Amino acid sequence: MPGTMRRAIYPGSFDPPTFGHLDIAERAAGLFDELIVAVGENSDKAPFLPVEDRVAALEECVGSLRNVRVTSFRGLLVDFARGQGCHVLVRGLRAVSDFEYEFRVTMANRRLAPEVETVFLFARDEYSFLASSVVREVNRLGGDVSEFVPEAVRRRLGHSV
Ligand code: PNS
Repeated sequence: MPGTMRRAIYPGSFDPPTFGHLDIAERAAGLFDELIVAVGENSDKAPFLPVEDRVAALEECVGSLRNVRVTSFRGLLVDFARGQGCHVLVRGLRAVSDFEYEFRVTMANRRLAPEVETVFLFARDEYSFLASSVVREVNRLGGDVSEFVPEAVRRRLGHSV
């Protein structure tokens, strides 16, 4: 629609953000007029990195893109999306193993907010193995995570084994 601002949300736990997340955020920023990278706060789970650190690291990495804003949210993603006047969610897909979870969440979100569409971007093949859980494990065991996460994240990681 001419004159309509296409705004999308790229939500995730980003705990911690990886090069795979940054790649999806950069590509999504190229597809929409405005992209909100939204860090979900899950009060049930003790985070690996505090939410403020995840937001700060993402801001360092993608906040300088002219149409990207980084923030955090609590509660239902679709409520956050409605509050932002946004009807598009972007998610990354790495492999078939991601599909089942993404399918469930997408269908639940659709029932809750039929006007909100979820679109998927395939991860670049060099990141198709990469997950925050892998980074947490390698870091916990003292391994080098520089192939997996940017310096803005590395600086914020502890090394408790
Ligand atoms: O990177 P992740 O961990 O797959 O991100 C998950 C996230 C934050 C997008 C998801 O857990 C979420 O949307 N949480 C908010 C609660 C919610 O709306 N859940 C969807 C209905 S099941």
